[in-house]
Amino acid sequence: MPFPLEADERPLYLDASQPREARVEDLLRRMTLEEKVAILHGDSPFSTPAIARLGIPRRWLSDGPHGVREEFAPDRWEPAGHTDDFVTCMPAGIALAATWNRALAQTEGQVIGQEARARGKQIMLGPGMNIQRTPLCGRNFEYMGEDPFLTSRMAVGYIRGVQSQGVASCAKHFAVNNQEWDRLSINVELDERALRELYLPAFEAAVREAGVLTVMGAYNKMRGQFCCENDYLLNVILKGQWGFQGLVVSDWGGAHDTAGCVLHGLDLEMGTEGNYDQYYLARPYLDGLRKGVYPIAGLDDKVRRNLRVMFATYAFDAGPPGSLNTAEHQAVSRQVAEEGIVLLKNDRHILPLDVSAIKSLAVIGENALALQAHGGGSSTVKALYEITPLAGIINRVGDRLNVTYSKGCGQNAGPGLLDQAVRAAREADAAIVVAGLGHGRYFDTEETDRKDLKLPCGQDELIARVRAANANTIVVLVAGSPVTMDPWLADVPAVALSWYSGMEGGNAIARVLFGDVNPSGKLPCTFPKRLEDSPAHALGAYPGANGTVRYEEGLLVGYRYFDTKDIEPLFPFGHGLSYTRFDYSNFKIIKNGGSTGPLATVQFDIANTGGRTGAEVAQVYVHQIQPTLPRPFKELKGFVKVMLAADEKQTVSIPLDEAAFSYYDPEKGGWLAEKGDFEILVGASSRDIRWRGDFALNQTSLKKAAASAPVTPRTIPKK
Ligand code: BGC
Repeated sequence: MPFPLEADERPLYLDASQPREARVEDLLRRMTLEEKVAILHGDSPFSTPAIARLGIPRRWLSDGPHGVREEFAPDRWEPAGHTDDFVTCMPAGIALAATWNRALAQTEGQVIGQEARARGKQIMLGPGMNIQRTPLCGRNFEYMGEDPFLTSRMAVGYIRGVQSQGVASCAKHFAVNNQEWDRLSINVELDERALRELYLPAFEAAVREAGVLTVMGAYNKMRGQFCCENDYLLNVILKGQWGFQGLVVSDWGGAHDTAGCVLHGLDLEMGTEGNYDQYYLARPYLDGLRKGVYPIAGLDDKVRRNLRVMFATYAFDAGPPGSLNTAEHQAVSRQVAEEGIVLLKNDRHILPLDVSAIKSLAVIGENALALQAHGGGSSTVKALYEITPLAGIINRVGDRLNVTYSKGCGQNAGPGLLDQAVRAAREADAAIVVAGLGHGRYFDTEETDRKDLKLPCGQDELIARVRAANANTIVVLVAGSPVTMDPWLADVPAVALSWYSGMEGGNAIARVLFGDVNPSGKLPCTFPKRLEDSPAHALGAYPGANGTVRYEEGLLVGYRYFDTKDIEPLFPFGHGLSYTRFDYSNFKIIKNGGSTGPLATVQFDIANTGGRTGAEVAQVYVHQIQPTLPRPFKELKGFVKVMLAADEKQTVSIPLDEAAFSYYDPEKGGWLAEKGDFEILVGASSRDIRWRGDFALNQTSLKKAAASAPVTPRTIPKK
């Protein structure tokens, strides 16, 4: 029997000084069956209903992940057209990953959390943390690249930042949501090691280390079951083995069946359709409960999880007011953009451009003018403003140089545009071609994958012709995923990759081009020379056939494949140049004698010997010499980013814990660190290895995946 509220009662759950779980239990026992079911599904595109009798407020969710999305109409899947919902727009997730700066990820998370509070949102739908399995995936730009360790570290920082503001973060999309092609129905078949070693670690870190409050189920199926109703993913692994106490929300429209949702771990159903009462976790669930088809214990478990998130996000208490569009937030956006820019090539030290040595500059290309924030699907952000690359360049040097702009090519371009751009390049002292992709259909966007790796709209020819007209041609690529560059890369002296760099992107690009900022970004994904070099494509294991995609490459994703198979990439994982030079020396592996803490610490000095302040990302990879089960040649297990003044030297220490040596053994059902020899590789990229050291583990240890405590009754009743 639910406990009604008496008129003069001040119930325990409204007392902020009480422990959270006590408040949850107190509120739960007062709720009627109908009220419990009411909070398990949406009542508008991004909200769940209020329950006035108990003072449960309406709860607001929002995309995510690069800023708080604009307001939606209450009754249809459309923006509301408000004028007060402009926000700070951060660079895309892939740009954040390219910073390799976990503290900065946390700072970005704080900003997002503050803006969410100011906009009245309790759940922010990010970070996006699916692994880049194919360079063609339309949402690669939202995610954090191909490596589970890098993704984990960045996601943990981001989530901690968001949640420090009393806003729930949402780790998405759980799991194996690695292509947009057929995303709503594709069934992913993969082996257990690939699942555990590549596709789950970031989610596990989000749960165990960052205490993420919500997880979003993916649209696709895994091993025949939709991910939003996947018993193995949600009940066995997420809630059972990892002990997740928060709520699982469906991707919008990702629920398919009442029994599946009820029994296989979904706690909140959201969607784009307006018949909310008919959602699987609405009336059909209520009817089933009334008939005794579904147990009340399962319902209470879902309600508890929802209430926990409500209490954690100040649904009943005064929370922090948050802040919106502050100068500090914009500065963080710019810092992420600056640190995320990857200098891919810089022959003759042509960059940074010396303003005093030139008089004119030809800026060329559609992407110099393109606005990117308000595109790409659900991660679209209504930015308060957006500095384009051209605007950034004019802001920085417009008063000193004669800057011209020509589009060169692009959508609806006439043939005269190319000649015009070539002429402008010929007449200028230097040319900057801002090329790349965009968020249009079949580029970096939700719902479609790319069709190939080429730059679209004749940009290859444009760059080649501009370069032929001006030897001082610099290419800036605005793109969220790998592209090929063969028609021009050998001839163009400098290439910088800015990704989608948020509202301050143009300023960040200009500050890198003219040397106010020394680039320090490193690639979070391999750039292949050809699509066929990329594992899923080499094996014909994309996009699948007859509704199923088989991850034939198993563990060999990204550099794990290129290194193991010895295939030369265009640019390797971890690559990124600087205007200064870093020398590595004095390497040591310190073995830990104790029974706790890391097994070993890799220590070395990094010296800035190039005469200019800059930051270096040093990477540690582990290679097991003779594993019992095959392993990729090497795996990233540590990194550090250090800022060094000219001539400064610093000793850095990177701990390697048991997990750094382990792989998942499906037969033993756990993580195995095997006795035997390892090689520790320290590099400035995955291919620029500066040192190799030997390390031996003298005993084998197995860390079993925790036995799954069943959370809710899980058997689907027979119809
Ligand atoms: C996307 C999610 C997003 C949701 C709500 C879905 O289409 O896959 O990432 O959070 O829409 O907009």
